[in-house]
Amino acid sequence: MIEFTDVVKSYSVGNKALKGVSMQIEDGEFAFLVGPSGSGKSTIIKLITGELKPTSGKVHVNGYSLDRIRKREIPYMRRTVGVVFQDFRLIENKTVYENVAFVMRAIGAREREIRERVPYVLDLVGLDTKSRRHPGELSGGEQQRLAIARALVNNPSTIIADEPTGNLDPARSLEIMSLLMEINNLGTTMLVVTHAKDLVERFHKRVIAIDEGLIISDGMDGYYHYEDQ
Ligand SMILES: Nc1ncnc2c1ncn2[C@@H]1O[C@H](COP(=O)(O)OP(=O)(O)OP(=O)(O)O)[C@@H](O)[C@H]1O
Ligand SMILES: [Mg+2]
Repeated sequence: MIEFTDVVKSYSVGNKALKGVSMQIEDGEFAFLVGPSGSGKSTIIKLITGELKPTSGKVHVNGYSLDRIRKREIPYMRRTVGVVFQDFRLIENKTVYENVAFVMRAIGAREREIRERVPYVLDLVGLDTKSRRHPGELSGGEQQRLAIARALVNNPSTIIADEPTGNLDPARSLEIMSLLMEINNLGTTMLVVTHAKDLVERFHKRVIAIDEGLIISDGMDGYYHYEDQ
């Protein structure tokens, strides 16, 4: 579960990126996070991953209290959250297979586990036939699916995706969003930042809308007040 209680985040004195955000995302839920540029979406994501600490207020993620977490506990907390970065962060000189295996090695997984798990995850995202390619030999949509495979492979209970369809055409965007829904159906909690209003409306899921550091609406598609710029 992700829980924000009155979270304020200032990057500099007198300038608040988040002005008091409270929200709760239950285990297994799917939620979109929408809002104009600069409204605080990435700040929320960085607070969930522990990259940032709140200036005040409380952030709880999967049983960890991030304002009080000990340094040595952070790697354990991070294993519970997979992140799909907008810029993919793929390793160009490694194959598709090795890009995914690398994430498992980073947490000390055994080779045997890696040999079992990587093909399973590549199959899930539809890249099983491209495991020997390098990221530069993939289309934009395939690179995005590889980024999702990397977020998935350590079996996190939560996945956070920052603009996962940002660089894709409408058909590929629909594919990626459907893949995220499928993964959610397997039990993973999913928080997806997006500007793709048409996709948000199509899927009828919870939408958390933020503007100028405050949640302005939160609910099913009927509450979707956010106007894209
Ligand atoms: N490292 C930083 N230092 C200072 N100010 C920052 C920093 N990162 C973000 N901000 C400011 O905090 C506010 C929220 O930024 P944030 O990146 O969370 O927005 P966003 O909703 O993700 O926007 P976008 O849709 O453009 O990615 C903005 O006013 C931004 O300028
Ligand atoms: Mg952002």
